[in-house]
Amino acid sequence: MLKTHNCGELRVENVGQQVTLAGWVHRRRDMGGIIFIDVRDRDGKTQVVVDAGRSQAAFSAAEQIRPEYVVQVRGQVSRRPAGQENPDLPTGEIEVLSDELVVLNPAKTPPFLIDREEAVDEALRLKYRYLDLRRERMQRNMMIRHQAVKFIRDFLDRRGFIEVETPILFKSTPEGARDYLVPSRVHPGKFYALPQSPQQLKQLLMVAGYERYFQIARCFRDEDQRADRQPEFTQLDVEMSFVERDDVLNLVEALIVGMVKTASAVPLAYEQFPRLSYAEAMERFGTDRPDLRFGLELVDISDIAGKSAFHVFAENVAAGKPVKAIRVPGCGTYSRKQLTELEEMAKEAGAKGLAWMAIDPETEEIRGFITKFFSVEQLVAVMERLSAEPGDLLLIASDERRIVHAVLGAMREEMGQRLGYKDRKELAFAWVVDFPLFEEMLEDGHYAPSHHMFTAPKREHISWLDSDPRAVLSEQYDLICNGYEVGGGSIRIHERWLQQKIMNLIGFSMEEAREQFGHLLDAFEYGTPPHGGIAPGIDRLVMLMAGEPNIREVIAFPKSQQAADLMADAPSTVAPRQLEELSIAVKEGLGEKSKQGMTQKLR
Ligand code: AMO
Repeated sequence: MLKTHNCGELRVENVGQQVTLAGWVHRRRDMGGIIFIDVRDRDGKTQVVVDAGRSQAAFSAAEQIRPEYVVQVRGQVSRRPAGQENPDLPTGEIEVLSDELVVLNPAKTPPFLIDREEAVDEALRLKYRYLDLRRERMQRNMMIRHQAVKFIRDFLDRRGFIEVETPILFKSTPEGARDYLVPSRVHPGKFYALPQSPQQLKQLLMVAGYERYFQIARCFRDEDQRADRQPEFTQLDVEMSFVERDDVLNLVEALIVGMVKTASAVPLAYEQFPRLSYAEAMERFGTDRPDLRFGLELVDISDIAGKSAFHVFAENVAAGKPVKAIRVPGCGTYSRKQLTELEEMAKEAGAKGLAWMAIDPETEEIRGFITKFFSVEQLVAVMERLSAEPGDLLLIASDERRIVHAVLGAMREEMGQRLGYKDRKELAFAWVVDFPLFEEMLEDGHYAPSHHMFTAPKREHISWLDSDPRAVLSEQYDLICNGYEVGGGSIRIHERWLQQKIMNLIGFSMEEAREQFGHLLDAFEYGTPPHGGIAPGIDRLVMLMAGEPNIREVIAFPKSQQAADLMADAPSTVAPRQLEELSIAVKEGLGEKSKQGMTQKLR
């Protein structure tokens, strides 16, 4: 080894020892005759003192070095002079008096400062990711990720799970996104698809009798990027045989609690995760992934508002459309401008308008266009229903239930943000269960599965698949945290006839089903145990545990918002010879155009 100790290791107990350190020059301060260097490696930092009186050669070398040079220092550990200790540094009581300093490799001036936390343009960070990863924040995030994955592996190993790798070159695995395709040279004109998840393969492992499987699995989905999405991401993929829903939920809940306690920088809000039905989540929070760090719940006031003289409410309620409201504390003094701004946001979420009532904090007078259509008793009833207090703002929406939920759900998020509730440093996990099996009816008369097509309908609802498919609830469950969906899973279908029936309902003909999923359907005829599983998203979990706002911060080499690797410049054009081998022709000029697009984005 080129070093005897790591840079975060030395303490007062080491005083007097001869040591060799190696690392990067974090900071260098020239005090004339003495140069202080903070030498950094992954483990920490140590102050090195280079005194011309102790070693002229080391001093001459130290005069030349700059931040991010890689150096090797030999010297003696010494207690820092009284008053010069640095309590913020684990090595802050000691320093190393340098006898020898060797530059192992010089460094150009980095495009941004490594030794300070400051905002740097993300495109620049991604282009020089190897420098960005040197920064403390990224090292901390990578460490949280490592600890989380290590905990997962140990936890599941102790419970009899085995890790099995499944192919990356596979066949289309529909999870609702576009596939990434890989052309085959050996089979011209044919393509592999990168797995959107190992869903079918883990089910096949259950058919194969493996009973308890997991995998830290890379998944690929060509979909629009968001702060919590990457084209390639990592799931903890789990599947178990002979289980019921609660077996999976209890196991994963224990795993998450343990993982957060072991690896997270952010604590749990509570240890027992609430279980909400999909219907309850929608009614109370307007979304199936509510942020449970705060209330601001949706309250139904249809019975009161429907009797008011405000004809929109009266007509809507008569037509079976609800009137719902949220109470926002402390915003009763909002100006007209602020309220118009909120209404604009509500319209973006699908509302035709947004009604409001504001209670003056002092006079307790109720402002708002609609109040004049409410009798005093009706106003009192609304206030009581919402437990409103002076200074509160009530935001009210009425429309089809779906729209009311979308609008007030969005308002709840917005107001939660404005009131600082979303800054609370805690993790509020919950389970959402009892989803409808189908999300919507498509124009062609088929149904879209709300999770994926391998999800089992509730046994007692199977007969409704013929009579009323939209009423069928499924065995799907989602794990949510702070407004994110962090995992999804289900008890699966394990019978061929039922799987085929669902495939038909969502629009696969028998032939198509056989062509795409024949391997799975066939397998179901060879003795398939009832089984179920789940896939928590590792990137999203680590993002939350690290307190980061997007998953790129917890992935070593992420793609940009435009799904590009800005460091290696991928995707990129390839040599004509490679295309020829694959029997692929790229339309004239296409490659060049996309390349220009990428460089522009970088600038
Ligand atoms: P699902 O599609 O719900 O389920 O995905 C499970 C979890 O994976 C994470 N995730 C993502 N993370 C980052 N970027 C993405 N583009 C992305 N897409 C999904 C989320 C999500 O909750 N095969 C099923 C699982 C199962 O049924 O067992 C599946 O993939 O955290």
